[in-house]
Amino acid sequence: MDAIEALKSRRSVRAYTAKPVAREILEELVDCARLAPSGMNVQPCDFVVITDAETRERIAEICEYGPFIAEAPACIMLVCREEGLFLEDAACAALSVMVAARAHELGTCWVHAFGKDCEHELGATAGVPKDHRVVCVLAVGYGDFPPPPPKRELSEVLHWDRFVE
Ligand SMILES: Cc1cc2nc3c(=O)[nH]c(=O)nc-3n(C[C@H](O)[C@H](O)[C@H](O)COP(=O)(O)O)c2cc1C
Repeated sequence: MDAIEALKSRRSVRAYTAKPVAREILEELVDCARLAPSGMNVQPCDFVVITDAETRERIAEICEYGPFIAEAPACIMLVCREEGLFLEDAACAALSVMVAARAHELGTCWVHAFGKDCEHELGATAGVPKDHRVVCVLAVGYGDFPPPPPKRELSEVLHWDRFVE
């Protein structure tokens, strides 16, 4: 699968099978993410890959909008030092994980953590140092890709030279 196909066919997957994801694949997802662009090349992100079922169940309990993390065979907690443009950097890294996962026929879903009441407790489940922020937890696993959700049309969002005529 080429990059364009992976980008265009990525979906948020919220129903997973128990089939485990090979360690080498999980490693490659993080390898892709560490190579993502970052402002001034600060590289503020770390990635905690969690496969342990008990920890995932705990995370699913804590995250209001991520119950499927308990079923997904793995999740990746995206953690950042509060340095530079860390939120933008984290978003780039997260998309790299999601697109690389798609190329491996894996589904993913971003579960929000940053600034939520649960952020600190979430970090504690994975031993994240207190001076780091938890931006999101990405569920990773095999599962049916849902039909595409509605997206704004290209003709609506694309503006040549000027936003308004
Ligand atoms: C910043 C951000 C936060 C999100 N938070 C959640 C979340 O907490 N739980 C969830 O199930 N999906 C979450 N999503 C996934 C979106 O709901 C999803 O991307 C959107 O509905 C479009 O669907 P698609 O990813 O299949 O294109 C989040 C996505 C982003 C980019």
